[in-house]
Amino acid sequence: MKYNFDSCTSRIGTNSIKWKFADENKLNDFAPLWIADMDFDVLPEITEALVNRAKHPIYGYTVPSEEIYDEIISWQKRHHNIDIKKEEIIFSTGVVHSYGQMLDTFLAKDEKVIVNSPIYPPFFGTPDAFEREVVYSPMIEVEGGWKFDFEGFEKLIKEDKKIRMFNLCNPYNPLNVNWTLEELNRMMEICHRYGLYVSSDEIHSDLIMPGFDFVSALKVNKEFQDKLIVSFSPTKTFNIAGLEVSYVVIPNKEIREQFNRTAHGIGLSSINIFGYEALLAAYKNGDEWLKEATSYMYENFKFVKQYLNERMPMANLNIPEATYLGLLDLRNIDLPEDLADRLMKEAHVQFNPGQAFHADHRCLRINVACPRAQLEKGLEALRNWLTVNKYI
Ligand SMILES: Cc1ncc(COP(=O)(O)O)c(C=O)c1O
Repeated sequence: MKYNFDSCTSRIGTNSIKWKFADENKLNDFAPLWIADMDFDVLPEITEALVNRAKHPIYGYTVPSEEIYDEIISWQKRHHNIDIKKEEIIFSTGVVHSYGQMLDTFLAKDEKVIVNSPIYPPFFGTPDAFEREVVYSPMIEVEGGWKFDFEGFEKLIKEDKKIRMFNLCNPYNPLNVNWTLEELNRMMEICHRYGLYVSSDEIHSDLIMPGFDFVSALKVNKEFQDKLIVSFSPTKTFNIAGLEVSYVVIPNKEIREQFNRTAHGIGLSSINIFGYEALLAAYKNGDEWLKEATSYMYENFKFVKQYLNERMPMANLNIPEATYLGLLDLRNIDLPEDLADRLMKEAHVQFNPGQAFHADHRCLRINVACPRAQLEKGLEALRNWLTVNKYI
């Protein structure tokens, strides 16, 4: 391997959200396996690009260069075989920000958005903030994974004419499904038939496990893309979430202009200079880093699986098809509602609680984007806590 993922620079004292509990409590045995950023040093070219830009002492309003558009188009073609035109790209700060902007731009106050469940919290939290009602289309649990309930989804839309948008998570956080073209066509055909906007959140699209290929909503039949808005970002892929850079791709000109108008209206015609620099450096130089990071994280998932098989067989993890986030399934054990909180405070290992996603509290979301030793420390802390408290 060219890059080393076994060790990383300490984040203690950097105001990292992930490490906040350790900072506040002066812990040196903490294993944060929760919020979706990586404990890996970034690609060196990203740091170099930021330092170089920082050396110029003026940081005024900045437009994206032609090179940035070219690199985005090239990245999406090279990695996912997607054809994007320059004029279809609109820059944004975060993907969650774009989602709020979409809701505000395209839905009237009394109109609703439909999402799957369990789901990444802003899928319902952002509509709550914008006062748009959320309708849930629950996923169906099957042996070894989850599947989309097409009949249930269509029934909900058919019966409630106020549902005007579907917010899809592609690939799916936290259930880790990597949708197929057939599935995407089927869901988007339904949305097209009932005239729904489709927002496809593709922030995890570069984080695909071996044996799977990512399929963008931009690959479905063109006629189903009439109200499609796709969000991409290099932030999960390259561990630069603090730089707040992302972009949406909107094939339909009319919708794009509407979205652009609100972007200008709320002062988003220019984003953070360092975000542009990091995106460019990552897309230009990051192929090999990403390949190695993904393979390291896949080995981490296998490590967790093996650990559970050997040392905690009552727990389960289905190795994800995509994302570096998995669901640790502890439903065979009778556990308290405040499980995740107690693990953080008493065992110094932090997971996202299942309830945050509208899932069972005995399902913990685990983030494997960290050195293997950190993962092992967290699993040991979990097992010890369960043993000491006589849950296993
Ligand atoms: C599906 C999904 N969308 C969006 C985000 C956050 O994106 P941003 O930081 O660009 O708002 C995350 C972060 O974990 C995510 O998992």
